[in-house]
Amino acid sequence: MYTDKVMDHFTNPRNVGVIENPSGVGEVGNVKCGDIMRIYLLIEDDVITDIKFKTFGCGSAIASSSIATVMLKGKTIDEALELNNKDFVSALGGLPSVKLHCSVLAEEAFKSALYDYCQKSGKSYTGLEGFDPAELDDDHHDHGDEDDE
Ligand code: FES
Repeated sequence: MYTDKVMDHFTNPRNVGVIENPSGVGEVGNVKCGDIMRIYLLIEDDVITDIKFKTFGCGSAIASSSIATVMLKGKTIDEALELNNKDFVSALGGLPSVKLHCSVLAEEAFKSALYDYCQKSGKSYTGLEGFDPAELDDDHHDHGDEDDE
């Protein structure tokens, strides 16, 4: 059911932890499963120089946040904003369709952290236009069949 890559990132997650004095922090949750994901960013000259996460959630959410941090670290913000949950899922070799929403949490937590950074720094990025953490819905659990290709 789960790929070796998912199991690897679940049992040995990368970049777990907290960044003191982060450039931005984002926390998202899903009320239905109760899972919560928090992502911390350190940004210097528009580059994500460090990223850490804490996920209180299922194995797929942990594996998704782990792979997301690996893929996002070192990228410029514009490059990072080109990645979405589908890229995280492909890098994991796939997730069961009922678990796709777990990878959405990783994308939303990252964007929320970036939003926080934008609020603090007064910056804005095209890839983040229209994103507002306050408007995130939590209905991803309602569509187990939603692949939204
Ligand atoms: Fe809710 Fe995985 S994040 S079950």
